[in-house]
Amino acid sequence: MKIIAIIGARPQFIKHFPFEKACEDRLNLKTIHTGQHYDENMSAVFFKQLGMRKPDYMLNVGSDNHGVQTAKMMVQIEEILLEEKPNGVVVYGDTNSTLAGAIVASKLHIPVFHIEAGLRSFNKKMPEEVNRVLTDHVSSRLFTPSKIASANLEKEGLVEGVYEVGDIMKDLVIYVEENKLLKSFKAENYYYATLHRPYNTDDSSRLRYVLDSLNGLSKKVIFPIHPRTKNNMNAFDLNIEKFKNIEFISPQSYIDNLSYLIHSDGLITDSGGMQKEAYWLNKKCVTLRTETEWVETLIGGNNILLFEDLSCLEKELLKVNLSWDNNLYGDGNASNKIVNEILRD
Ligand code: UD1
Repeated sequence: MKIIAIIGARPQFIKHFPFEKACEDRLNLKTIHTGQHYDENMSAVFFKQLGMRKPDYMLNVGSDNHGVQTAKMMVQIEEILLEEKPNGVVVYGDTNSTLAGAIVASKLHIPVFHIEAGLRSFNKKMPEEVNRVLTDHVSSRLFTPSKIASANLEKEGLVEGVYEVGDIMKDLVIYVEENKLLKSFKAENYYYATLHRPYNTDDSSRLRYVLDSLNGLSKKVIFPIHPRTKNNMNAFDLNIEKFKNIEFISPQSYIDNLSYLIHSDGLITDSGGMQKEAYWLNKKCVTLRTETEWVETLIGGNNILLFEDLSCLEKELLKVNLSWDNNLYGDGNASNKIVNEILRD
């Protein structure tokens, strides 16, 4: 059985690793990297550090407006799928690379297998929400991380081919912990922060407000800076020198990022994946958004949403007596369950 997986953005390289491992000796897996992310530390570093195979196809699409970027991917993916004639196409999550792969494959009548199906923020202004809804509706098999995600699909009439397998990112966190791959740092008190969503970074006064809030915390903030955020800080004349309490570092590899997180006193983020990683590593998380698709992390206050008024940021980070559900988003065996299901035909 031949399967083609489509990846392109940083979180997809992470999700692809456990899937690639689970496919070994079981099915013929080929990979298309769209090139949505292309900087060394946004792409190649993940392949090197995790020992992943080089993609079979590298499209080098790069950054552009959504229409241009997605269309460029579609043209090239279509050519490859026509040539390769796979039995199925795997897409992950909710990026433009996900949508491009799903549209092309479904129109060629190639079954689409969507890993991380059923997530909803119910905010259609997020490009990711549009990408996920459209992808789910053209997918033949929908692999969800939770009951709530499966229920979201049911509400939209999607009941066939839905499998609740848990979250594939949990497979990797468990793998990294079991193999003791996390690095140790000198003991130091700091918060860890990441920021890349357009609504936090594309508007100069919003970006300044968030950075000022981080700058005013009582502990140092370590902040790996996403290229979108860095470009916008330059454009808005927000010089890093103005934020003495923030240590800006370059985007981190997978293991280094988790290592920074586990040694921190809490996470401030607008990332989807990092809300879950913080939960699994038992770290308090404050999410700078008005909603999250990972609603289960909010139960018990382990993760909290803050957006308009950030004055209580530190009070939230310092909250204690949190209890963690070790089974949140499955048992860490999602990738094997997905491959078993794909092979069941
Ligand atoms: C994308 C995904 C988002 C995901 C995020 C993870 C979409 C719509 N968004 O957002 O869901 O959470 O990836 O990081 O697919 N850039 C570089 N070098 C790179 C990549 C990007 O400099 O290697 C800069 C470019 O200026 C680019 C900007 O970052 O225009 C944004 O990149 P893009 O891939 O469009 O979106 P992300 O914000 O990374």
